[in-house]
Amino acid sequence: MKLAILSRNGKLYSTRRLVEAARQRGHSVRVLDPLRCYLRISSDGFDMHYKGKPIAGYGAVVPRIGASITRYGCAVLRQFELMGSYSPNSAAAIARARDKLRCHQVLAAEGIGLPVTVFGDNPDDTADLLAMLGPPPHVIKLNEGTQGAGVMLAEKASASRATIETLRGLYANFLVQEFIAEAKGADLRCFVVGDRVVAAMRRQAPKGDFRSNLHRGGSARPVRPSRAEVDTAVRAAGLLGLGVAGVDLIRSKRGPLVLEVNSSPGLEGIEQATGIDVAGAVVEHVVARAAGLQHKRNADLTDS
Ligand SMILES: Nc1ncnc2c1ncn2[C@@H]1O[C@H](COP(=O)(O)OP(=O)(O)O)[C@@H](O)[C@H]1O
Ligand SMILES: [Mg+2]
Repeated sequence: MKLAILSRNGKLYSTRRLVEAARQRGHSVRVLDPLRCYLRISSDGFDMHYKGKPIAGYGAVVPRIGASITRYGCAVLRQFELMGSYSPNSAAAIARARDKLRCHQVLAAEGIGLPVTVFGDNPDDTADLLAMLGPPPHVIKLNEGTQGAGVMLAEKASASRATIETLRGLYANFLVQEFIAEAKGADLRCFVVGDRVVAAMRRQAPKGDFRSNLHRGGSARPVRPSRAEVDTAVRAAGLLGLGVAGVDLIRSKRGPLVLEVNSSPGLEGIEQATGIDVAGAVVEHVVARAAGLQHKRNADLTDS
């Protein structure tokens, strides 16, 4: 099958591994920088060019769209979808997953466990907003932060209020959560492909921090998630419409809680911690789904 990896940088570990896994399985694969794809939109068809030449005929695309280019990247991905390429994560699902608040609402509505979260706008409401959440410590997060940057711990109500005032002054979008102390600075990254967790690691925050992100100096080791953790991770990805997702869970007294669902989960940390060929699992899933879609389209054509 002809595959495209939508990625700004072919040298990144995740991109390289996806290319390698696709080639090993006999597929033709090309890395396309989404910012070099340009589109022609017309009611008689969709066209796309890449660095001066038309591109078409990709059976599937694997999107690796960074948070800084969500809008343009998703427009390009949508064009691929309209031109008949399969993507495990649709443009709509990626745009949805990037908004933490929205994800929390969608997941909570379906009964998925989450830290209790509050969100408000007007400074006059801050006292009542924090009363709705409960006593500190509180975790305050920028709505579109990644890699642990933009996640703060306020141990006292006065610190929560001051942080909230500061963020409001900067016109930042943020949410406030209960702090899950019993997690002791650890979380679980479950790498979901289709309806399976293909690999999982437990990340531990460095001493003196509560954020377990590897970019913040966290350490990782392989872990076997419980039945409840697997179910939660797979359901969360499914509810957001993501075929490939990194679901971050935290272990709490009341069971697994979802912290976030990442639509472009990195491969380096998880492959190194677990030794599992995650890139291969992604490629195999994408190719199987794309072939199924092609088969269905052909059958629909024969029927009509
Ligand atoms: N409510 C919470 N209680 C305890 N620890 C938390 C909470 N929220 C986040 N953390 C810690 O902070 C890390 C980063 O938070 P997360 O919501 O995943 O933001 P980011 O998108 O920046 O990774 C998590 O991996 C976890 O270790
Ligand atoms: Mg995270």
